[in-house]
Amino acid sequence: MSGLFLTVEGIDGAGKSSFIGWIERRLRAKGADVVVTREPGGTAVGEELRRLILSFEIDPVTEALLVFAARKEHLVRVVVPALERGACVVCDRFTDATFAYQGAGRGVDTGWLAQLEIWVQAKLQPDCTILFDLPVALARHRSAAARIPDRFEAQQEAFFERVRECYLLRAARDPGRFRIIDAAQSMTQIEAQLEAIDLLR
Ligand code: TMP
Repeated sequence: MSGLFLTVEGIDGAGKSSFIGWIERRLRAKGADVVVTREPGGTAVGEELRRLILSFEIDPVTEALLVFAARKEHLVRVVVPALERGACVVCDRFTDATFAYQGAGRGVDTGWLAQLEIWVQAKLQPDCTILFDLPVALARHRSAAARIPDRFEAQQEAFFERVRECYLLRAARDPGRFRIIDAAQSMTQIEAQLEAIDLLR
């Protein structure tokens, strides 16, 4: 595959979604064919699954299976065809979120998640993952002001501490793929940090 697979991650309230448009514009300015998408979602079935996942109290393993079901559909219909034609795919969350939320957050066995990852993705991994990192208290303060919380946003602080820790651990283990953004900074400072990322320069 000749395209570029870029994923964007962070705990709820990290502000990543506000910068996806910026990343898209930057890649387009470099002449790239850009596809912006999200998980769970990105397809008709995926968006339906997203609605279920964000609205209903479900068993954590069921939740992990639904997230991977949405991912398979997304990969087959959107991500892989785009990468095959050489596009840049900018995806708001991917499998790092499953390890962070379902694994560290909800306690689903990470060995099972790793098996599902291979089953659903084979060897496909993001080329680059931009992790928006900030203290949990600040993220919660920011998202509280935004809107009515969904099922994840309504979780306790300890849940998000585990999620954040997992993201940082995965970033430390795979420094070639991850770029960490200090999301506690101002919008202008965050843009400057994004500008310094090799792929976006
Ligand atoms: P978003 O608000 O960033 O669009 O993400 C929706 C929620 O879905 C967010 O709280 C994290 C959650 N999520 C998981 O729990 N597991 C996953 O694999 C993904 C992709 C998202």
